[in-house]
Order: sequence, then structure tokens, then C-alpha cells
Amino acid sequence: MKKLKQSPQYVSTFESAYGSEINPDNIKNAIATFQRSLYTPNAPFDLYLKGNKNAISPQAKQGYDLFKSYGCISCHQGMLVGGNMFQSLGIFGDYFADHGSITKSDYGRYNVTGQEEDRYVFKVPSLRNIVLTSPYFHDGNPQTLDQAIKLMGKYQLGVDIPQKDVDLIMSFLRSLTGEYQGQPLS
Ligand code: HEC
Repeated sequence: MKKLKQSPQYVSTFESAYGSEINPDNIKNAIATFQRSLYTPNAPFDLYLKGNKNAISPQAKQGYDLFKSYGCISCHQGMLVGGNMFQSLGIFGDYFADHGSITKSDYGRYNVTGQEEDRYVFKVPSLRNIVLTSPYFHDGNPQTLDQAIKLMGKYQLGVDIPQKDVDLIMSFLRSLTGEYQGQPLS
């Protein structure tokens, strides 16, 4: 609160939005309102789960099956297809040695907790709207989703995913793009 009150802009914006000065309730309400504005519902995959069997293509359905059978869902799971756990990057290989010089951001969650077991541990990201948010990973190294899927296979599952399966998984991931304020994101 002390920090926000130092900003004349925040003071006047809070005053006009809430008709009162900055206080803990207003701050919580403002952050929650912002977060709700990030809601992107009604992805084709959501419509599919609600029972519209034709909302996604046959390729996307096969990709969904592969996403489950390869084991992507052991980490990318739940309503956001991720976002609910932390995991090491490089379970089946040394991602960092293979990608050259290590920077502080590569330490991942260790930078937050200082615990040795959190080194190279990252939040498993949500895959919603994933086709729109390249580059990927904490380091922005994979430029394309194709690369990101192959790297996930190699370092998180210990498999070389054949191109045809990568393409099908990509079709599934495309079905995770939702709507923003009533308009399809694209
Ligand atoms: C053992 C856990 C685990 C498994 C299994 C796993 N992932 Fe991931 N995934 C992660 C983590 C952790 C990250 C974040 C890596 C980073 O930030 O450097 C990630 C990142 C990604 C990203 C990039 C997201 C972004 O916003 O940058 C994609 C795409 C992805 N995974 C797809 C897949 C696919 C497809 C599979 C199955 C072939 C898979 N993952 C299997 C843990 C996992």
C-alpha cells in the first residue's frame, strides 16, 4: 500500500475507480478484476468436452489421444492444461548442458526459494492459447510449437516423437485457443 500510494497515478486512478483511497480491499479487487479480464473461454476443445463431438477436427482428437498416451498429461493437466505444479526441466537429459551457457533465469524456482532441489524447476505452464504465445519455455529458446513439442518429448518423456505425431499434437493444441471478450483469439 505504501508503495502504491507513492504513485500519483495510482492514487488518482483508485480514487476515480473506487471513490476512495487505496486500501487492501481495493487492491485485491483491482487485481482480481484484471485477472478475470484474462479469461479466454469457449475454445473448440471446451465445446468438445461439453459434448459437441464435431467441435474439433479428427486430427485434434488423435492429437488429444497422443497427448494422453505419451504422458504429456502427467504434467499439463486440469482445466488450464497445466499451471498447477512445478517440475524439473530435463528429466530425461540435460537440457541446460545441451543449450549452452547457463544464466540465472535457468535456475528457475531456485531463484525464489533458495532450495537446492528447486534448481532447474519451473512452473508447468498452461497450454491454453499456446499457438499464439511463441517463443516458448522460460528461455524463449524454442521459436516454434513444433520445436517445443519435440523438446518436451526428448527432455521430459525420453522419446523422439515422430513428425506425424508432432503434427497431430499440434492440431490438438490449436483447439485450445479460446475467445477474448466474445471474439475468437487469433
Ligand atoms: C515432466 C513434466 C512434463 C511433461 C511430461 C511434459 N511437459 Fe511440457 N512443460 C513442462 C515444463 C516444466 C515446462 C516449462 C519449461 C520452461 O519454462 O523452461 C513445459 C513447457 C511446455 C510447452 C511450452 C509452454 C510455454 O508457454 O512456453 C509446451 C508447448 C509443452 N510443454 C508441451 C508439452 C507436450 C506436448 C508434452 C508431451 C509430449 C509435454 N509438454 C510433456 C513439463 C512437462
